[in-house]
Amino acid sequence: MPDPVSPEEASSKPPLHPTCEETTVVSLTPVGPSIDIAAGADKPLWLLDLVLPNWGRWRPGQFVMLRPAAWGLDPLWARPFSICMAEAGVLRVFFQDVGRGTAALTRIRPGERVVVWGPLGTSFAIRPQTPTLLLAGGMGLAPFIGYARVHPDLTDLHLILGHRQDQACYPLNLLPEGLSKEIMRQQSEEELQAFVEHLERKVLDYAVRDGLVLACGPHPFLRAVHGLALRHGVKTQLSLENRMACGVGACLGCVTEAAQGPPVRVCNQGPVFWATDIKL
Ligand SMILES: Cc1cc2nc3c(=O)[nH]c(=O)nc-3n(C[C@H](O)[C@H](O)[C@H](O)COP(=O)(O)OP(=O)(O)OC[C@H]3O[C@@H](n4cnc5c(N)ncnc54)[C@H](O)[C@@H]3O)c2cc1C
Ligand code: FES
Repeated sequence: MPDPVSPEEASSKPPLHPTCEETTVVSLTPVGPSIDIAAGADKPLWLLDLVLPNWGRWRPGQFVMLRPAAWGLDPLWARPFSICMAEAGVLRVFFQDVGRGTAALTRIRPGERVVVWGPLGTSFAIRPQTPTLLLAGGMGLAPFIGYARVHPDLTDLHLILGHRQDQACYPLNLLPEGLSKEIMRQQSEEELQAFVEHLERKVLDYAVRDGLVLACGPHPFLRAVHGLALRHGVKTQLSLENRMACGVGACLGCVTEAAQGPPVRVCNQGPVFWATDIKL
């Protein structure tokens, strides 16, 4: 297994040596209780396993750009996904079908070829002996699976997953045994409000304990965490999921507003940023 992280290095630093390699699909597995979408069931979420490219190292929070060889010219651009796991010769991505590219990915078959750029971008800090709160909004769970699996001391960690779909759609079995966690579903405005209030109490607690807060999820979720982080002065990193075209800093398609100075590129100056360094 590639060496994923050295605690001293694990912060928002530039990527290690990314590669661009064509690799092979091992499996594609739906995660979920039912795929009877017509009957109103949640759409499944998916685990895609690929043969792990020849990476030296990777760090949790980094991502890959994937482009199946069969796409030809349509879709034209590769799509970015967090590295969920990279171990035992397998690169695993956890994804949701939200549009053309991800719908096409749900039709991929074992043995098909996929071009993988990675590992790309910055990573989450790993600080042993520091209480660390992992805040995942839905698919934002993906990088925290890898994070928890490589963290040297699970007793430092507590995960909160806020989700909309059935809990069975999330591969919680991939989280290491013994990880402290709360899994909370929000299906109404009231539940969402209660969830945000719970997050605020937790963030405040980690501020008092001089802890670390790491967050990944959809933009409104990150905006809420960003506000709490600044209000309570807790060290916080956020992983942004802006739309990307090139993924390597060339097109400026992914920029976000910086707290000071010119906009920053999420693909190669992020996707993980300190909350104090960006505006959301
Ligand atoms: C660093 C990074 C890591 C990511 N990790 C994951 C992951 O682990 N699992 C996962 O399922 N997705 C992840 N995403 C989001 C994923 O890249 C998009 O869902 C995907 O590119 C959509 O492609 P599409 O062709 O299916 O959708 P499109 O047809 O391009 O768009 C369909 C809809 O999705 C919206 N959309 C497109 N891209 C994004 C985006 N980045 N964020 C929010 N909405 C978007 C569009 O506005 C549109 O409404 C990540 C994105 C980034 C930047
Ligand atoms: S996606 Fe092209 S610069 Fe970031």
